[in-house]
Amino acid sequence: MLKGKDILNAYQFSAEELNLIMNTAAQFEKRVKEGEAIKNMEGMVVASLFFEPSTRTRLSFETAINRVGAKVISMASASSSSTAKGESLADTIRTIDGYVDAIAMRHPMKGSAQIAADVAVHPIINGGDGAGQHPTQALLDIYTIRKEKGYLGGHTVTFLGDLKYGRTVHSLGYFMQLYGNNMIFASPESLKMPEEITQDLRKRGAQIEETGDVEAALAKSDIVYVTRVQGERFDDPAEYEKVKGSYIVDMDLISKAKPGITILHPLPRVDEIAAEVDDYAGAAYFRQAHNGLYIRMALLALVTGRV
Ligand code: NCD
Repeated sequence: MLKGKDILNAYQFSAEELNLIMNTAAQFEKRVKEGEAIKNMEGMVVASLFFEPSTRTRLSFETAINRVGAKVISMASASSSSTAKGESLADTIRTIDGYVDAIAMRHPMKGSAQIAADVAVHPIINGGDGAGQHPTQALLDIYTIRKEKGYLGGHTVTFLGDLKYGRTVHSLGYFMQLYGNNMIFASPESLKMPEEITQDLRKRGAQIEETGDVEAALAKSDIVYVTRVQGERFDDPAEYEKVKGSYIVDMDLISKAKPGITILHPLPRVDEIAAEVDDYAGAAYFRQAHNGLYIRMALLALVTGRV
């Protein structure tokens, strides 16, 4: 179903494809935990191209490539490649596409994954294109919700933080809509979800409330998805200074939230979740990061037809 396909955004998927990805991830999770030496992608090579900083996405992709039996070639920064000499993204991708069977890529420009997909013969997997989309993160987010909550629909989910530049929520909103969850967008006024995304989600039938009142939002939420203020995307550093630190999830706030609330965060966190929250049973963000490994193994095997 996904063989040969690019993974570029969250709105490209059917419910059947999402089920296939999550079920494949669950199988890989079981096989990894049983200690199997997995060979699905034996003989293949995958490129991991990161033109922008990353810890989890790059290292879980590279671990996934290794654990699914393929070999990896890796570029961890734009400064270490010919991008620094002025080579275009299209030329770089065309070249590397000739070496490998699939490419996982992160780039600071919105739309860059599509540019890569247009010139590559092999599948491109978008690991984040600027303030655009981050579909593999949203996939691991729903895999996590399914594991933590037992089911994916009927929840009230608050997205808290930088909804303007945070690409993870730009992707996750589509999955939350598809599975029939209510969404609350809670952000500082200047970091609201882009109007085109809110409108598009509503057109697809999403129930969305927008608010600045975090306490009231959390009092009725089953899940809160916290995001970092994306300092690197601000044109004006003074604007960043104004909003940074403007929301903090601590145990005082959790004590006023709906009992049993699950806390997700794509990480890295800066100061938006207090360290004391890490011991709360519903703090799922490190489990969430761990789940990325299995989702990325599944995606790689599916797009290369090695499931
Ligand atoms: C996110 C990203 O890069 O968009 N991180 C991640 O992939 N886990 C979130 C962020 O950087 O704030």
